[in-house]
Amino acid sequence: MNINTFGVIGSGQMGNGIAQVAAMSGTKVIMNDISDELVQKGLKNIESLLARSVKKEKITEEEKTDILSRVIPSVSLSDMKSADFVVEAATENETIKNSIFQDLDRICPSHAILSTNTSSIPIGRIAAQTSRPDKVIGMHFMNPVPVMKLVEVIRGLATSDETFQITWDLSKKFGKTPAEANDFPGFIANRILMPMINEAVFALYHNVGKKEDIDTVMKLGMNHPMGPLALADLIGLDTCLAIMETLYDGFKDSKYRPCPLLRKYVEAGWLGRKTGRGFYSYN
Ligand SMILES: NC(=O)c1ccc[n+]([C@@H]2O[C@H](COP(=O)([O-])OP(=O)(O)OC[C@H]3O[C@@H](n4cnc5c(N)ncnc54)[C@H](O)[C@@H]3O)[C@@H](O)[C@H]2O)c1
Repeated sequence: MNINTFGVIGSGQMGNGIAQVAAMSGTKVIMNDISDELVQKGLKNIESLLARSVKKEKITEEEKTDILSRVIPSVSLSDMKSADFVVEAATENETIKNSIFQDLDRICPSHAILSTNTSSIPIGRIAAQTSRPDKVIGMHFMNPVPVMKLVEVIRGLATSDETFQITWDLSKKFGKTPAEANDFPGFIANRILMPMINEAVFALYHNVGKKEDIDTVMKLGMNHPMGPLALADLIGLDTCLAIMETLYDGFKDSKYRPCPLLRKYVEAGWLGRKTGRGFYSYN
C-alpha cells in the first residue's frame, strides 16, 4: 500500500516529533490537535528543531523549508478523510482515544490503517471501537521522536499480518528500528521501564535518598543515560501515572501500585518539563 498522506492526531511532544520524522521521510503529513494554538505550538517546535539541524549543517535551509511545507495543520478530524495511515498521539486517556478512534473509523477511507502511539492502553480495546480491528495497531515511538531509534510495533489480537508489515516497513522508512510486541499492559517498553520509574518515586517518597542522589545512582551505577526522575519529567508525570494505572488495572497486582507522591505531583499540575516543574524545575 502506498502511504501518500499520513495523519497525526495530537501535536504535543510526541505528535509533533512523529510529524517531523514522517515529513523528513518525504511523506505529506496532516497534523491535528484540538486548537489552532496547539497545532501552531507543535509546528513551532518542528521548525526550531529543523533550524538547529540547519545550524549544525545536517540539512540545508531549502530542505528545512521543504520538510515544513509537507506538514499541514488541522483542527478538524474530518481532514483525515484523505489519510492512508493515521497515528494517534493524543493525551494518554482511554475515553479520549476511544472517541478519536470512533470518529477516525467513520472519517478515514476503508483502506486506512489506524495506529496508536499509546504507552500502555490495550490495542484490542482501542481496536474494538472501530469496524476495522484488523487495521488497528500500536506504533509506539520513543521520546524525543527525532532522536530515539526505536518504534515498538504492537499487534492487537485482531491485527492482520498485512497491517503489521505495513507498519513495520513505515517505521523503517521513518529511519527507525522496529521491535515487535504483543498486546499486554505496558507492552515491552513500559512493562519494564515504568515500574522502575515508579520505584524511584517511592524511594524519594520514603526518603531513601534525595532526587539528585537517586538519579546519580542509576546514571553512574547502572550506566543509564539519565536518572529515572529526570526521565519521568521528560516523559510527563501525567503520562507516567496513566501508564502505572493501566499496569495496576491490567494485572490487579499491588507491585504496580502508583506511588502516592507521583499522584500528588500530577494533581498539583507539576507534570515535568512540559509545565516547567516536576521533580526538577525548568525555565
Ligand atoms: N511523553 C512520552 O515520553 C511518550 C512516549 C511514548 C508514547 N507516549 C504517548 O504519546 C501520547 C501523547 O503523549 P505526549 O507526551 O505527546 O502528550 P502531550 O500532552 O504533550 O500531547 C498530547 C496532545 O494531544 C492533544 N489532544 C487531546 N485530545 C485530543 C483530541 N481529541 N484530538 C486531537 N488532539 C488531542 C492535546 O491537546 C495535546 O496537544 C500518549 O498516548 C502517550 O502515552 C508518550
